[in-house]
Amino acid sequence: MAAAGSAVGLGNIWKFPYITGEYGGGAFVLVYLITVALVGFSVMLAEMLIGYLGRKDGVTSFETLAPTRKGLWKFGGFQGMAGLLIMTFYSVVIGWILNYIVTASISLPSSVHEAEVTFTTMLHSDFFTQFFYHTIAFVIVTYVLHKGIKSGIEKVNLILMPALIIILSVMFVYATTLDGFSKALTFMFAPDWSKLNSEAFVTAVGHAFFTLSLGMGAIMTYAASMEKGTNIVKSAFWVVFLDTAIAIVAGLMLFTFLYQYGSGPDKGPGLVFISLPAAFYEMGVLGNIFAVFFFIALAFAGLTSAVSLVEPMVQYFIDRFGWSRLKASISMGGFFWLVGIVVILSGLDGTKEYLTWGGKNFFDWIDYITAAIMLPFGGLIMAVFVGYILPKTEVQATMQPFLGWAFAPWYFSLRYIIPVAMFVVMLNLMGVF
Ligand code: PFF
Repeated sequence: MAAAGSAVGLGNIWKFPYITGEYGGGAFVLVYLITVALVGFSVMLAEMLIGYLGRKDGVTSFETLAPTRKGLWKFGGFQGMAGLLIMTFYSVVIGWILNYIVTASISLPSSVHEAEVTFTTMLHSDFFTQFFYHTIAFVIVTYVLHKGIKSGIEKVNLILMPALIIILSVMFVYATTLDGFSKALTFMFAPDWSKLNSEAFVTAVGHAFFTLSLGMGAIMTYAASMEKGTNIVKSAFWVVFLDTAIAIVAGLMLFTFLYQYGSGPDKGPGLVFISLPAAFYEMGVLGNIFAVFFFIALAFAGLTSAVSLVEPMVQYFIDRFGWSRLKASISMGGFFWLVGIVVILSGLDGTKEYLTWGGKNFFDWIDYITAAIMLPFGGLIMAVFVGYILPKTEVQATMQPFLGWAFAPWYFSLRYIIPVAMFVVMLNLMGVF
């Protein structure tokens, strides 16, 4: 449940719909789904296996499991840094959501234009509101982390995840009764290949890693506390299935509301903050209720993922430096809180000029470097580690009972398909094609 809570996050409900909108729908969704099935699932199994066998923080697990060159392999665990970096903007976005829970319960914008003004005013000129809610996100996440795995992380996931699923299901069922639903279906599932350029391709692959929480040790850290004998394949399957199902359901629901009441699907990161509130307004009283519950669900999804973004580094400082959980949680929290302030400044008039390079501001750069580069690279390290470095007999002894005949294709994909796919992604990032 905690791994599913990590995977299902802002990536599913905020990011997936808006990048699908930006890259034109169906074809993008197809590349994403294929990547999830062929690459994501295999890497998820590899990452879970390393955690399950290592039973410690990422750095220690790599170090103890590597038969040789332990000093080198332990760097695989430092991928946990990517989580802290992601968290610098993730916390700011959770802050926006908390702010929207409050404002949506008071009133909704009466037009897309008004919604746009509200959102961009917050983004470009309201430092205080963003700072205030980012700080609340920091306090909640740090508190849950310091409570530990059993009474903090697991408890939060056990309550928030079912709540999230119930809220989304009710809204989704309502969406299926509207005319806009068939347009949403066409948009998401009828591929228009002309829209699929190489950037869309890399974004789809990067997003598959981001949404499944792969490549930075979050899944590994959680897997380290799985009971011996747990069926890794079943767990991985459920995480991938739930994550994908929730992204699709959230996307269909959002696009239905947008087609039915509002504007088109291509509004960028402001999609759920601009187009959606305006669509909710058109729905009347029901829309008001939906708006509040939608943002609550989004906050729940975000918080369970946020905890998992920071836990790998918290665990690292506890295991390796003997820090108390409190000290580790506050220090890691302090890091993302401080850098998060720079993320806020990078959107504000007056400071954004100093924090923008090559058309991307600090926020965009962190998002890009982590999702498009660090996570796929981390996934590659894990695939290679399980495929080439761990003794095959050990991997087989643990995985064969769960995978059966599927062991051979999985092992093959770790050794050949994933390295080649990641190599292609890296070449594209370097501008080779
Ligand atoms: N999977 C989360 C989402 O979709 O929002 C984000 C995330 C969490 C990425 C944890 C990476 C991670 F380790």
